[in-house]
Amino acid sequence: MPEAKPESHPRHVAIIMDGNGRWAQRRGLARIEGHEAGVENVKRIVEAAREQDLRYLTLYAFSVENWKRPTTEVNALMQLLDQFLSSQSEEMIQKEIRLRVIGQLGKLPGRIRNKIQKTIDATAHFDRWNLTLALNYGSRTEILDAVKAYAQEIAKGREKPRQLDWEQFSQYLYTTDLPDPDLVIRTSGEHRVSNFLLLQSAYAEYYFADECWPDFGKEAFAEALKAYACRQRRFGLTGEQILSQSS
Ligand code: IPE
Ligand code: IPE
Ligand code: MG
Repeated sequence: MPEAKPESHPRHVAIIMDGNGRWAQRRGLARIEGHEAGVENVKRIVEAAREQDLRYLTLYAFSVENWKRPTTEVNALMQLLDQFLSSQSEEMIQKEIRLRVIGQLGKLPGRIRNKIQKTIDATAHFDRWNLTLALNYGSRTEILDAVKAYAQEIAKGREKPRQLDWEQFSQYLYTTDLPDPDLVIRTSGEHRVSNFLLLQSAYAEYYFADECWPDFGKEAFAEALKAYACRQRRFGLTGEQILSQSS
């Protein structure tokens, strides 16, 4: 059951980092330069999240659908991810940030998988700040993977469908040890979800920012948190019920 009380500060913020390509094109630059600027902003927002003591930050970095982009762009994105992991692994250890990844890792290049695994292992003992990268992620793929894993457990006699409830099923999702997002932000003025955390966001608040991702800096992020603090989350109850619970 989600907690039915207004939260002034989200525990888990998830961001659809959109608009790198348009940011670059508007400046007469190549799309890849937008992605480079996007990586710089990832560093800023990870720092901002830590400063604001946000415990969980999840960043949508590459979707299952993004493989369909031109090969040169996909290769450049993989290269940037590789560089990010090389430069940020030590930083995460120093700042005590635990790294997780959600998505089908098997399809990523081996050198990237190795770096990811090393950083995941080296930061697994931290619990205060949690950074999750959604890589080769898609909600529908995640749900299918969960159903397949669950069906295998039934076949082995370890699960009984009659006993299945949401809490149990959610353990088969990639997000098994993460709380549901409280706030989902999408940048670049697009108002869609693009296959991101569909089930986990069932009761999340959404915030759409006009800035393209490279321009969505610490101040814009603070604005999003301020907007969240003014929302009343009702989880199906009435506003009066929520107010009486929190008084
Ligand atoms: C987001 O920026 C980054 C990824 C999807 C990898 P885009 O590359 O989608 O930028 P726009 O939406 O084309 O401007
Ligand atoms: C969503 O952005 C995926 C990421 C931010 C990684 P897209 O740019 O791929 O989404 P659509 O295609 O505009 O819906
Ligand atoms: Mg986009």
